[in-house]
Amino acid sequence: MPSVFIKTYGCQMNERDSEAVAAQLVAKGYSLAKSEATADVVLLNTCSVRDFAEQKAMNKMKNLAGTARKSRPDQILGYLGCMAQSRGKELIEKLPDVDLVLGTQKFHRAAEYIDELLAGKRAKIVDIEAEAKSEAAIREHLLNGSAKTSVSAFVSIMQGCNQHCTFCIVPATRGEERSRTIPDIVAECRELVSRGVREITLLGQIVTSFGRKEKRDEWQVTRDAGGIVSPDTRHLSPFVQLLDAVHEIDGLERIRFTSPHPKGYGDDLVEAYARLPKLCESAHIPLQSGSDRILKLMHRGYTREKFLSLVEKLRRAKPGIGITTDIIVGFPGETEEDFELTLSLCREVQFDNAYIFKYSERRDTPAATMPDQLPQAVREERNERLLNLVNEIAARKYDAFIGRQVQILVEGPSKKNAARYTGRTRCNRIVLFDGSARHQGQLMDVKIERTGSFTLYGDPAVVNL
Ligand code: 5AD
Repeated sequence: MPSVFIKTYGCQMNERDSEAVAAQLVAKGYSLAKSEATADVVLLNTCSVRDFAEQKAMNKMKNLAGTARKSRPDQILGYLGCMAQSRGKELIEKLPDVDLVLGTQKFHRAAEYIDELLAGKRAKIVDIEAEAKSEAAIREHLLNGSAKTSVSAFVSIMQGCNQHCTFCIVPATRGEERSRTIPDIVAECRELVSRGVREITLLGQIVTSFGRKEKRDEWQVTRDAGGIVSPDTRHLSPFVQLLDAVHEIDGLERIRFTSPHPKGYGDDLVEAYARLPKLCESAHIPLQSGSDRILKLMHRGYTREKFLSLVEKLRRAKPGIGITTDIIVGFPGETEEDFELTLSLCREVQFDNAYIFKYSERRDTPAATMPDQLPQAVREERNERLLNLVNEIAARKYDAFIGRQVQILVEGPSKKNAARYTGRTRCNRIVLFDGSARHQGQLMDVKIERTGSFTLYGDPAVVNL
C-alpha cells in the first residue's frame, strides 16, 4: 500500500486534524512514511494566521514539487487546512504540481480523494466547500503512533469562530461556530480512555462559546437522550456542562482545554477549576494587548481591567494556576503609550509564558485597511522588548519550582535524548527526568532539581522510593 507523510503547520487544532487524516489513511491500509523523500503522498496541513506561516508552507511545497519533478514524478502533493481553505484553486494555478487542495470542512474526505488521485481517476481535486456537520467528522485517533499520543489526546469539540477580531483570518478559514453535542464528545473521550488515554485536551478556536449558537431545544434533546449531563449542571454554560460530563469519565485523570476567549470566561468556568479536581490548573488566555484603545480596535470585547480581574479570580479559585497568553505587537495605530500598557500589564500579571506575534496584515480583515500600519522596524523592536520582559518573568517563574515536588503525567522518551523521559505538570510545564518504559503513562511525583530554558529537570527517586 502507498505511504503518506503529513507535515503540520500552526496550532494544536491543526495537529489534531493531521492526526485524524493519518488515522483515516492508516485504517485504509496506507503506511506512514518516515520522511517526505520516501512518501508516495505528501500533505502539508497549513496555517494562515500570519503571512510567515503561509510563506513557509508555500516554499516547502515549491521545494517538494522541484524534487518530485526530478525524481518522483508519481508523488501526490496536497495542501490541507486553513491556507487551502482561504486560497483554494489559486494554489494549483500558482504551482501546477499540486494535486490536492482540501479545505477545513473536508478533512474526513482526504482518504477517498487520495485513493482517486493515486488510481488516476482524477488529475486534480480542489474541495473547499462548506459541509454541514463536518465539526463532528474529525474523530479518528492514532493512538499507536508515537508513545506520547497514547497517554494524552486532543478532542475537537467545535469548529469556527464568530468573534471577528479585526486582525484575525480564522472566521474565513474555519467558518461559523459549530459545536458537537455533549454525548458525541463524551463517547469519543470514553473510547480514548478505554484505549489508555489519561489526559484529554478539549480543542476549539473559541471553546468558551461551545454550544452557544446551537438551538436551545436541540441541545435539550441531545442532552436528555444521552443522559450524560447531570441535571445539577443545567444552569451552567454549555462549555462548563461539557467539562462536568467529561469529568465523570472513570480512568480519565486530567482535563485541559484550549483556546478560551477572556470574554467567555464566566464565573461558572472560574469556579470549575476549584470544583473539578481533574481540570488541570493551567489556562491559556489570549490577551492580545494591554491597551483598552487597541483592544477596542481589535474588537476583543473586554478591557484591561476585566482581564486583570479574571486573572485575579482564577488565582483565587486555584492558587498556583499556570497562566499563559498570546500578545500581538504593532497592531495598526499602536502608539508607544499603548505598547507600554501591554508591558505594564505583563509586569502586573507575571505570565508563566507568553507567545508574542508581530502584527501581520491578513487579506480581507478589517485591520489590514486601518490607518497607521506600523513600519516593520517598529513591530520588530516592540517584539524584542516584550520578548525580553516575558522571558525574564518566565525564567524567574521556572526557577521558583526548584526544590518543589510536583505531579507529572509521563508521556514518553524525550525526542532529543531517549535516555530521558518527559512528562508534564498539571500547570502544563515540561519536566525531564531519567526514566524508563515502565514510567510511561504513569502519574508520578518528582522533585525539581534544576531548570533549563522552558524545561524543568526532576528527580523521581527522591519521592518515589
Ligand atoms: N497577526 C499577528 N498575530 C496574529 N494572531 C492572530 N492573527 C494575527 C495577525 N493577523 C495571533 C493571536 C492569536 C494567535 C494564535 O495568533 O495572538 O491569539
